[in-house]
Order: sequence, then structure tokens, then C-alpha cells
Amino acid sequence: MERLSGRVALITGAARGQGRAHAVRLASEGADIIAFDSCATFASTNYDPSTLADLEETARLVKAQGRRILWRQIDARNFADVENLVSAGTEEFGRLDIVVVNHAICHYSNTWEVTEENWDEVISVNLTSVWKVLKAVAPYMIEQRTGGSIIVTSSVAGVKGQPFLAPYVASKHGVVGLAKTLANELGRHRIRVNVVLPGGVQTPMAGYDWNGEKGESNPFAGELNKPEVAATLGPIFMNALGEKWMTPEDVANTVAFLASDEAHFITGAEFPVDAGATAR
Ligand SMILES: NC(=O)c1ccc[n+]([C@@H]2O[C@H](COP(=O)([O-])OP(=O)(O)OC[C@H]3O[C@@H](n4cnc5c(N)ncnc54)[C@H](O)[C@@H]3O)[C@@H](O)[C@H]2O)c1
Repeated sequence: MERLSGRVALITGAARGQGRAHAVRLASEGADIIAFDSCATFASTNYDPSTLADLEETARLVKAQGRRILWRQIDARNFADVENLVSAGTEEFGRLDIVVVNHAICHYSNTWEVTEENWDEVISVNLTSVWKVLKAVAPYMIEQRTGGSIIVTSSVAGVKGQPFLAPYVASKHGVVGLAKTLANELGRHRIRVNVVLPGGVQTPMAGYDWNGEKGESNPFAGELNKPEVAATLGPIFMNALGEKWMTPEDVANTVAFLASDEAHFITGAEFPVDAGATAR
């Protein structure tokens, strides 16, 4: 089914994980792709960074769907670089219809042990640079006058107080508010803005390799096995279906729906892809 023929989609954090799945899925539905990733190391993270080779592989996979892709290694925190890519991409493909702001980093710590540097880095990547991407794309989409769909990736941590993740949780709550505000501002331009809230997804951020086998990057996971900790915090990580992990493709299914005209009356909404983790 090619629900996105003739459309152009910008995807951030596209080198691997969910960003790659979104790029490949939207391409399979007919969209040409503008993609970027920083492919860089972050001081706040304890998992492997993505690489240029990862981003090149995403480009190869998009082309294998028969679609075009313009990709760059840039950091969303650099507004000028993001603006330049939007200009280059819209010049090359002629339009911009879909934006998936997916990039983020994750930092584990007790709230009182987060360093100022780690706090600033996570907020700057996960919240401020999400706003920078939205700031770069909105004027172009308004000017284009053909509406569009923006999807911002938050997390279950965007609506729940997940322990050991203070700056991540704060930033993910922040992007929910940011997206809903933008949904109200862009509604009259027929540009929809929605949020996806994934539960645990098998990606390198969660400590998984590409076979989905490597395990868990959360250094506090062992803590949760202690009976006294499990008794109070365990329920926060449970879900109605009793599943632990989603796949990137599960999230891409929802993103593709929200990008399509089937979702033409859906804006300002939060879409959990979490096996029911937010149902309780
Ligand atoms: N994996 C999970 O369990 C999970 C759960 C809920 C939500 N999420 C969210 O899903 C989204 C995708 O994460 P993922 O699981 O695919 O992780 P990932 O680490 O595999 O991929 C994230 C990508 O974003 C890129 N990135 C980070 N900061 C960037 C920046 N400033 N500029 C450009 N690129 C940048 C990284 O280099 C990386 O390639 C994130 O928003 C994440 O917070 C993940």
C-alpha cells in the first residue's frame, strides 16, 4: 500500500533504531526521504553511538525501496545546519509534507546524582533541539500551503515519572507540551502535529544489538530485582499485555498511519505504542 506517494518526509536520528525504521517504512509507502543524524558520541550516554556507516545503511535501505534520499551527518542542536538541510532537501525534492522528530539520548541516574553537564546535554538534545527542528520546518510547511503531518517521538517517560531518568523524563514531558502547542498553532494551516509514546523498544538506546539480543543499557535494571525496590517501582514498568519490548517497526506502523491521510482529523494527540504501559 503506497499511502505516501509524491510526499517528502524529513526524519531525524535516522542512522539506526526507530529513525531508520521510520525512513524505510515511509519510503516503502512511497515517500522520498530527507534524513539526518549526528552519528556522534554523547557524554551522557552509556550505550554505543551510531556511526556514519549506520546512516549510509539507512540510505541504502531507502533506495532499495525505490525511493530517493538526501542525508547528512548533522546535529539537531545546530539550527543553521538543520535549516540548510531543509532548504537543500526541499530544493531537491520540491516539497516537505511529513516530519518525524525522532532523535534523542538517554541518561540513567538518580535525580540528585545527575551532573549539571548531563542535565544540560539531555535537555539540549531531547527538548531544545526538537524545538529547533520544528522551528526550521514550520515556516516552509506553512508557506507550502498543502498541510502536512509532524510526528514527535516522546516516550512512556513523557507521561509517567519513570525513576532513574530525570532529565530524559523532563525532556520527554516537555516535547509532549511542545507538540500540543504547535498542533494548536498549525491547525489552521492544516498541518497536524502528533506525539508517539513508545514503551521499551529493541534499539541500541535500550542496549540491544541488531539481533535484538544484547540486553539492557539501564544500569538500574538490577535494582528492580530487589524485592523492596520491585514492590514499589516494579508496577511502573509493567504493561497490560505483559510484553517487555516493542520493535522499531511497531512504532513505524503508528508513524506511517499518522503521516497518512487516514489520520487527517487526528492532531494534538498522544499515541502510546507501549503494550498498555500507560493504561494503568
Ligand atoms: N529505545 C527505547 O526503549 C525507547 C523508548 C521510548 C522512546 N524512545 C525514543 O525513541 C526515539 C528513537 O530512539 P531509539 O530507540 O531509536 O534510539 P537510538 O539511540 O538507537 O537512535 C537515536 C538516534 O538519534 C541520534 N541523535 C541523538 N541526538 C541527536 C542530535 N542532537 N542530532 C542528530 N541526531 C541525534 C543518535 O545518533 C541515534 O542514531 C528517541 O526519541 C527515544 O527517546 C526510545
